[in-house]
Amino acid sequence: MEFNIAFSATADDLEGLTILLCAEERALSGEAAAIVPEALFNRAADATKFSGKSLSTLDLIAPEGVASDRLMIIGLGDTTKMLEADWLKLGGKIGGAIVSSGLERATILLKRPDDQSMSIEQIMNVVSGMKLRSYKFDRYKTKKKDKDEDNEETKVCDVFVAVEDSAASTETWARESGVIDGAILARDLVNEPPNVLGPVEFADHAKALEKLGVEVEILDETEMSDLGMRAFLGVGQGSVRPPRLAVMKWMGGAKDADTLAFIGKGVVFDTGGISLKPGAGMEDMKGDMGGAAAVIGLMHALAARKAKANVVGLLGLVENMPDGNAQRPGDIVTTMSGQTVEIINTDAEGRLVLCDVLTYTSREFSPKFMINLATLTGAIIVALGHHKAGLYCNDDDLALQIAGAGRATGEEVWRMPLGPEYDKMIDSKFADMKNVGGRMAGSVTAAQFLKRFVGDTSWAHLDIAGTAMGSPQTEVNKSWASGYGVRLLDRLVRDNYE
Ligand code: BES
Ligand code: MN
Ligand code: ZN
Repeated sequence: MEFNIAFSATADDLEGLTILLCAEERALSGEAAAIVPEALFNRAADATKFSGKSLSTLDLIAPEGVASDRLMIIGLGDTTKMLEADWLKLGGKIGGAIVSSGLERATILLKRPDDQSMSIEQIMNVVSGMKLRSYKFDRYKTKKKDKDEDNEETKVCDVFVAVEDSAASTETWARESGVIDGAILARDLVNEPPNVLGPVEFADHAKALEKLGVEVEILDETEMSDLGMRAFLGVGQGSVRPPRLAVMKWMGGAKDADTLAFIGKGVVFDTGGISLKPGAGMEDMKGDMGGAAAVIGLMHALAARKAKANVVGLLGLVENMPDGNAQRPGDIVTTMSGQTVEIINTDAEGRLVLCDVLTYTSREFSPKFMINLATLTGAIIVALGHHKAGLYCNDDDLALQIAGAGRATGEEVWRMPLGPEYDKMIDSKFADMKNVGGRMAGSVTAAQFLKRFVGDTSWAHLDIAGTAMGSPQTEVNKSWASGYGVRLLDRLVRDNYE
C-alpha cells in the first residue's frame, strides 16, 4: 500500500481509520478525549487490559456519532522515556495499522497526551516510520494482494496527519521525505534480481541522480585499467558483464569545506568465483551490493534535502563469476596502491574491490574521512547476528559520531577491534598480503586488509552483511532488504558536518 501523506491542523472530516495516541494510565490528549467517548474507551480498555503501554493497541468500531469506520488507540508508554528511535517505531506501528486496515483514508491525531507539544523532529520520525513500514517489493508479482480492484494499481491510502503547525510540517517533510526515498531506493536495489541489475544497470541508477543535481561520472574497464585497479578488475574477470566505478558528487557545502567520502561494495552477484559457494541460499548473494545501495541511497537523500555538505559517493560495481577466464586461487595481483595481493580464496572478493576504490578516493579527493560499507563477511553475522553492523574504525571521534547516529536512527553499530596481531594474519608467503586470514576472526582480518589501503586518512568500515539483507522484521521494515545505512549516514552528516 502507498501512503499519500498530508498534514492538517485539525482532525475533522474523520473517515476510514482514525488513530489516537495514549500514554500510560490511559492518558489521552484533550482532542483525542473529545473523539472517543469515555465510557466506551474505559469499557474496551478494561476488557482487553489496555493501559497505554508502548506500542500496544486498542481497536474499536467507531461508535454512533463518530464519522470514521474504525478508531484505533496506540500506546506510547511513558512519554518522558521516549527516545528518537521510539517515535520512528511508533510511526511504523501506525503505518502497519493503516496497511492492515485496508482502508483508503486515515487520520492520525498526532498530539501528545502530556502537556508538551510534539517537536518537528518527533513528527518527522513518526511520518518517516509510517512510510518505511508501507514499503513492499512486489514488482515481479503478477497477482498482487493489495491491488485496487478498479484500476489494478497498488492501493493508495490518503493519510491526514493532524499536528499543531501543519505548515511547518508540510515544508519540512518536503525535504525530509527525500531521506526515506533514499532508504527505499536502497531497498529496491537490494531486492532487485541479479539478472536485471548488473554493474552497468546499477551505474545507470547512479547516473539518474543527476536530476537531483548530483554530478556523476562512470569509469569503465579501460579507465580503471589505466588507473591500475588490478585487484578490482580481477574480481570481474570471469563475468561477461563488465565492471563499473561510479563516482557521485554532491557539493552542497561551502567551497572550502572538507569533502566527506562514502564507498560501497557493489558486487551485483557473488557466486564465490572459482572458490564457488555452495548452492543452498546462493540466491541471497544478489544482495552483495548492499553497501553500494546504501551509498547511492545516501547521495539521493543528501541531494533531495539539499544538504549543506560536500560529499562524494563511490560504488565498486562488479560481478563475481566462475569462468575459463576467472581469477584463480594462487593468482597474485598488483593493487592501485602498488601493494601486491595473493588470492587464496576468490570468494573473499569484496576487499579486492574496495581496496582499489579506497586508494582512488584518498588520492582523488583527500577527504576528511572515508567510510566504506560492505556486505563483507559471513563472520560478522556469526558475531552480531542481524541486529547491528560491525564497525571498524581508526579514529575514536569518528567512531563515536557513527555510534551516536546509529542510536538516533535505530540503525545500530557495534565497534569491533583492530590490531597488529590481527594484521599479521594476512601476511603472505609470496606477496605483500593474502586476501584471507584463516578461519579465525574472519570479519576482523577482512577489516585489517582494508586498513592497509587507507594510510593516515580517518576511516571507518561498516560490515553490513547481517543488517542489509535477510533483515529482521521490525516496526519499520517488513522487507528482506532493509536499506540499512542510508538514514544512519544521513544522520552522521547532518549532526556533525553541516
Ligand atoms: N559476500 C560475502 C559475505 C556475505 C555472506 C554477505 C553472507 C552476506 C551474507 C563475501 O564476499 C564472502 O563470500 N565472504 C567470505 C569470506 C571468506 C572466503 C574468507 C565468507 O564470509 O565466507
Ligand atoms: Mn564472496
Ligand atoms: Zn561478496
